[in-house]
Amino acid sequence: MQPPAADSSAEAPAERQRAHEEPLPGTEDVMNGQLGPTGRPLPEFPVPPPLTGHGPARVIALCNQKGGVGKTTTTINLGAALAEYGRRVLLVDFDPQGALSVGLGVPVNKLDVTIYNLLVERGHDIRDIVHPTETENLDIVPANIDLSAAEVQLVGEVAREQVLSRVLRPVLDDYDVVLIDCQPSLGLLTVNALTASHGVVIPLETEFFAMRGVALLVETIDKITDRLNPRLQIDGILPTMYDGRTLHSREVVASVVDHFGDQVFHTVISRTVKFPDATLAAEPITSYAATHSGADSYRQLARELVARGGAA
Ligand SMILES: Nc1ncnc2c1ncn2[C@@H]1O[C@H](COP(=O)(O)OP(=O)(O)O)[C@@H](O)[C@H]1O
Ligand SMILES: [Mg+2]
Repeated sequence: MQPPAADSSAEAPAERQRAHEEPLPGTEDVMNGQLGPTGRPLPEFPVPPPLTGHGPARVIALCNQKGGVGKTTTTINLGAALAEYGRRVLLVDFDPQGALSVGLGVPVNKLDVTIYNLLVERGHDIRDIVHPTETENLDIVPANIDLSAAEVQLVGEVAREQVLSRVLRPVLDDYDVVLIDCQPSLGLLTVNALTASHGVVIPLETEFFAMRGVALLVETIDKITDRLNPRLQIDGILPTMYDGRTLHSREVVASVVDHFGDQVFHTVISRTVKFPDATLAAEPITSYAATHSGADSYRQLARELVARGGAA
């Protein structure tokens, strides 16, 4: 996908400098102790206390069958923010496009074994496939285009919906959080991700047709809760690519809150070219532009998730 063109923090160095000092667009009221960008009073999300031990992990799928809504960006940066808070985080690339792996500098085309091999072949140990990243406490199980064959190959398997759950089990005690970056579909791979998860985070692009398809996603989640994974819950809906300078963005967020109420995170992610920039640099924004408001918004999301009980 092309990075969006318009962005206030993209151009001149002076602009870039200012972006560090200015509040997120649309959050000015918050600074006056009033409403957050979702139109509700913004609670304080405290810095989570250090953990004394690690695991067992809570597993969270980042899911929306629409492409380009910020699933991969959220997986990387929420993961990195949780890692900054001392959480041990495993990211699972579950999209054959491999954008998560590429976005963290894993040379996907040179890999002999990926999540694909774990899913369809016997005799692999997930520990051999986990890659460390440049970020402390942040590891990744990579994927590449091989994974596109898994959907068809798994169809004939016994308990075909539970394969990822089985594959992840040996490392759950080593991590506090596992984040699964889903592909943009509701096919068997996504069903596997939801079956392996405790929670779902749904990134929603702040644009007019954002809610198209969400009903179908929620219906799918309900079916999985009913038939395959009763513990599964929606951890939150995350408005992304928000531009508080436009009435349009504010209206879309208001209607999402109207519809989904407290399921919507208080944290919203603004649109900024720093995100595609960081991906090109194969780094989380929390290190690529550590003081940028975009990095802070993912730190806030991490704190909000912990405050809601979505992570240790
Ligand atoms: N908040 C944001 N502001 C600007 N661009 C973003 C933002 N979040 C993601 N992007 C960019 O939009 C594109 C799609 O995002 P991505 O996270 O890959 O979505 P998905 O995984 O849902 O397909 C990528 O180029 C990404 O860098
Ligand atoms: Mg993606």
